[in-house]
Formats: sequence, C-alpha cells, structure tokens
Amino acid sequence: MGKKVLVVSSTLRNGGNSLALAEAFASGVRESGNDVEFVSLKNKDIRFCTGCLTCQKTHKCPIPDDVSKIIDLMRVSDVLAFATPVYFYGISGQLKTFLDRTNPIFSSKYNFRDIYLLGAAADADEGAIDGAITALNGWISCFNGTKLKGVVCGAGATDVGEISADKLKEAMDMGKSV
Ligand SMILES: Cc1cc2nc3c(=O)[nH]c(=O)nc-3n(C[C@H](O)[C@H](O)[C@H](O)COP(=O)(O)O)c2cc1C
Repeated sequence: MGKKVLVVSSTLRNGGNSLALAEAFASGVRESGNDVEFVSLKNKDIRFCTGCLTCQKTHKCPIPDDVSKIIDLMRVSDVLAFATPVYFYGISGQLKTFLDRTNPIFSSKYNFRDIYLLGAAADADEGAIDGAITALNGWISCFNGTKLKGVVCGAGATDVGEISADKLKEAMDMGKSV
C-alpha cells in the first residue's frame, strides 16, 4: 500500500510561488504511486490558539473552525509537506497560526514521520529559508519520531510565476522520493 501524504499550502496569493512548489511536490507524490491530499489554508477559517490547553485532556480543540478537519487528515498521514512564503525570514503567519492549532495532536496518536518544507523567498540566497527551517524544527521537536526530511528553498522569487523551473523540478523529484 502507498504512503499517505498531506501537502499543506499556506500562501494566500493566487498562483503563489510556494503554492507552485506545493503542487509540483504533490504531482511528484502522485507519479510515484503514493496517495496525496492537498489542503490550502487560503479561504479557510483558522483562528488563533487561545492557549486554553483543553486539547491536552480531550484531544480536541473547542474552537469551531476549519482546523479540526485538517488535523484529522494530518493524524492519518504518513508524510507531511508544508509550503510557505518566507515572511520576514520566517514562516507565514497563517502557517504559524495553523501549526499552533495542531496542539490537540501533541497528546494523541499520529502516523506522520517524515516532514518536508517548501518555501518561496524573494532573496536570491538560499539561506533565506533558514528561519522557516528553525520555526518548523521547533514544531517537529515536539512530535516524537518525526524529522525534517527535505527542504526546497525557492529563492529569488518575488512576483507570481517567478519560481524557477529548476526549483519546481526539485520539489517534484522530492515528492517522487517520499
Ligand atoms: C509580508 C511579506 C514579507 C516578506 N518577507 C520576505 C523576507 O523576509 N525575505 C524574502 O526573501 N522575501 C520576503 N518576502 C517575499 C516573498 O517571500 C516572495 O514574494 C514569495 O515569492 C512569496 O511566496 P508566495 O508567492 O507563495 O506567496 C515577503 C513578502 C511579504 C508579502
């Protein structure tokens, strides 16, 4: 049986560069015969974690928005890929807000092990993704058995469509190799 792979795109920009990386990664997964679910945070109702910690007892978040459905998909996935624009040398606020809301998973069972990061940045230096790696590694360090398996830094991409063909291929090849 194939692996279940969940790709979470967080850009709110139509045709975004990190979205293009996420789609390339997803098509690579599909080509390799594994199962892919694609979720975009755009147009989703995703509120801030209030820090109530109810989830540590109930494994559920009391906030009634779109997060619980995505979390259910995460729990049963073997592989997760997060795509983000680089904002102020970190991850996007919408991805951070979403990751904070995954706290119900912290105290429960989950299948995911390998995590991938796909980022787009205006800066031509690939080090532009380092802050995003640090942010995601903070999340990863809280989930036993998980690790950051691969990173694509779509550097040098400012406007929509500026992501390079090489980077899209890198993301697709990474998707094929999950
Ligand atoms: C609020 C904001 C902050 C940004 N900060 C950075 C940054 O710190 N470094 C960088 O290289 N690019 C930065 N950018 C540029 C984006 O990372 C770049 O346009 C990227 O292609 C956006 O990805 P997307 O098309 O998937 O949304 C920023 C863009 C915005 C809107």
